[in-house]
Amino acid sequence: MSPTTGLQDISARANGAAAATPLHVAIIMDGNGRWAKRRGMPRVLGHRAGVAALKRTVEGAPAAGVGVLTVFGFSTENWRRPAHEVSELMRLLKAYVDSDLDRLAREGVRVRVIGRRVGLAPDIQEVIERAERRTADNDRFVLQVAFNYGGQADIVDAARQFAQKVERGEAKAADLDEALFESMLSTAQAPAPDVIVRTSGERRISNFLLWECAYAELVFQDVLWPDYGPDHLAAAVAEYQGRDRRYGGIAADDVAVAG
Ligand code: FPP
Repeated sequence: MSPTTGLQDISARANGAAAATPLHVAIIMDGNGRWAKRRGMPRVLGHRAGVAALKRTVEGAPAAGVGVLTVFGFSTENWRRPAHEVSELMRLLKAYVDSDLDRLAREGVRVRVIGRRVGLAPDIQEVIERAERRTADNDRFVLQVAFNYGGQADIVDAARQFAQKVERGEAKAADLDEALFESMLSTAQAPAPDVIVRTSGERRISNFLLWECAYAELVFQDVLWPDYGPDHLAAAVAEYQGRDRRYGGIAADDVAVAG
């Protein structure tokens, strides 16, 4: 997996320089339920406020230097929630696409949805396909929505895909390496995340981007998702910029004295 280099690449691209990798921030949007509970409101109102926070954050992302934003909208484990909450989360995805797709398409946003399509209702599959088709030629900004997504499920699906190639005689077990495996994940079209943010104070990965998080910086922010916005995203990016990414090597400053 090649390391991505982040913000300097965005400015390099703006200056017309060659091949750039955009900064990729992935967010576990946590805390909708607690936000609602604190206000004595049903949980689903927390999710609705969460969509408003998502819209603000997407809008402010390019100014924060972000070129790819991945958000965890619905996990393979979220089916365990009460049926009315699950259907509200489905409805919200549909409503988001219905209300915002024209604007996103106009603004050059490419929408991708990662996760298992099988198991989603036909109308949900239809909005996902519509959003992806409509924005397929855009490249100003990428919004990846993880929906019916689980990191383990994605790895299993990639493994199954490879096993099927072997069964068909199209590949040999010895062909498998990290790059080939990665090309079969649902995130293959995007660079690896530079930063994974989790809101609400919880400090877990919760089955999000398990393969892709190998060298991501983790940023935990003590804000409930419905209160999130561009300033929080800019703060997460600033925290990331202060980190020293070594990809298993040593700090650049230490190379000269390494002996
Ligand atoms: C976690 O909060 C959040 C979710 C399970 C769903 C996130 C969904 C949205 C922000 C809105 C809909 C998304 C899209 C893409 C349309 P929680 O409910 O687990 O909060 P809690 O831990 O406080 O209970």
